[in-house]
Amino acid sequence: MDTAAAPVKFPSPSGWYGLGIIVQKLYRGRGVARALSDFRAAWLRDEAGADRLYSFVSAENPVSQKMHADFGFQAVAEGAGFLNVSFDCGRGILYSLELKQGKGP
Ligand SMILES: CC(C)(COP(=O)(O)OP(=O)(O)OC[C@H]1O[C@@H](n2cnc3c(N)ncnc32)[C@H](O)[C@@H]1OP(=O)(O)O)[C@@H](O)C(=O)NCCC(=O)NCCS
Repeated sequence: MDTAAAPVKFPSPSGWYGLGIIVQKLYRGRGVARALSDFRAAWLRDEAGADRLYSFVSAENPVSQKMHADFGFQAVAEGAGFLNVSFDCGRGILYSLELKQGKGP
């Protein structure tokens, strides 16, 4: 694994991480997270030249797991934490999204 350069608590691949989208309850289910995620992926691909985006989710967050799957992320690892973030429930999933040039979002 090409690990993150800075010392981190949990083994994690180096690269871009997209974390922490939180939509107010009143506005959920209307495509806000999808719009934010699409914009972020397009910016990373077109402006930052990134070819991959990582994310991670608690094992106890099925809504976010479904969201990641529907956004095209692949689950690539499981662990007690990634980078310096541990999961309250003790387990989480690392996701990877390929950002192909000329592909979407
Ligand atoms: C997860 C969260 C960001 C989704 O935001 P949202 O604006 O409601 O999401 P969207 O309307 O853009 O939906 C995007 C996808 O999320 C998933 N999703 C959204 N609400 C869902 C629900 N109630 N149940 C299951 N999946 C759901 C679906 O895959 C959906 O895609 P679809 O519309 O094609 O079915 C929001 O529920 C939230 O803020 N949750 C609390 C914080 C959190 O868990 N953030 C993620 C941390 S990794």
